[in-house]
Amino acid sequence: MTEPLSYNKYLRVPELITLQTCLSDPAQHDELLFITIHQAYELWFKQILHELDAALVLIDQARAFAATLALQRVVEIERVLVAQIHILETMTPISFLGFRDELNPASGFQSMQFREIEFTSGLKDKGTLNNFRADEFALQRLQARFERPTLGQAFFAYLTRRGLDAPPDAATLAPEAQQQLYQRRVRAVVEVLTHFETRVAEFQLAEALLAHDEHFQLWRAHHIKMVERMVGAKRGTGGSEGVGYLRTTLEQKFFPELWEARTHLNAKHGAAGCPFASES
Ligand code: HEM
Repeated sequence: MTEPLSYNKYLRVPELITLQTCLSDPAQHDELLFITIHQAYELWFKQILHELDAALVLIDQARAFAATLALQRVVEIERVLVAQIHILETMTPISFLGFRDELNPASGFQSMQFREIEFTSGLKDKGTLNNFRADEFALQRLQARFERPTLGQAFFAYLTRRGLDAPPDAATLAPEAQQQLYQRRVRAVVEVLTHFETRVAEFQLAEALLAHDEHFQLWRAHHIKMVERMVGAKRGTGGSEGVGYLRTTLEQKFFPELWEARTHLNAKHGAAGCPFASES
């Protein structure tokens, strides 16, 4: 007779808790925290990718509300990812130095799933693929995502189907022509933000995408502060300049049109008003 399912079996807990292999010798107490926190991040990254992939399909199917729910879940996970950084800050800088050399040349810079989230959300860079050329598993996954449409592309294709003028980029066009397409997409977002009460589905989706972008940037900002607190201006184990390099990533946006549209919003066009205005 087969044994009934148990918690340990279903979740494969015995395997899970043997996956934290510390390298320090003599053992450094905080290395377990360092490994656990990174593994927890990777599990959440996996879940984020699962939700982003679902959102892509749902947007293509014009199921904006379901896509919004998937993205709202992503944002809640990202809040946890930001909060998790503070657990790591309970490690003292000197404790970290006790095992930091063992990590060399590994670095979060090589997190395949982090790059997959960036690619799917719209930040694609051929140079990133090059960084993974020695890692066949990662390279295959990243190449596959590089070829696939991004969330931004799916969103603007959806707006077009909803009757707005939101043309996709055309790689063959000159930079000025590209810029015009970009500005038309910005105007489409202005339209959605202005008429949020009649364009409810588009508005909710746009806001969920923006929240995803914002929370990813908040993670970057908190990670940088934690790194500075831990190692100051030292070079990274991945070989970069360290904090100096990380600061250059702070302005990266998944959906620049959603941010820029705010600048062009004009109160005269919005007629939301105060719901009690007619009573006074
Ligand atoms: C003591 C803790 C940590 C330190 C000192 C640290 C330091 C650094 C440094 C210096 C870099 C720049 C690349 C390099 O040269 O290595 C980097 C990049 C990165 N780290 Fe961390 N890190 C820490 C914890 C974490 C954690 C917990 C995660 C979660 C997954 C993480 C994810 C990343 C990612 C994704 C990058 C690439 C960022 C980008 O290129 O935009 N790091 N880290």
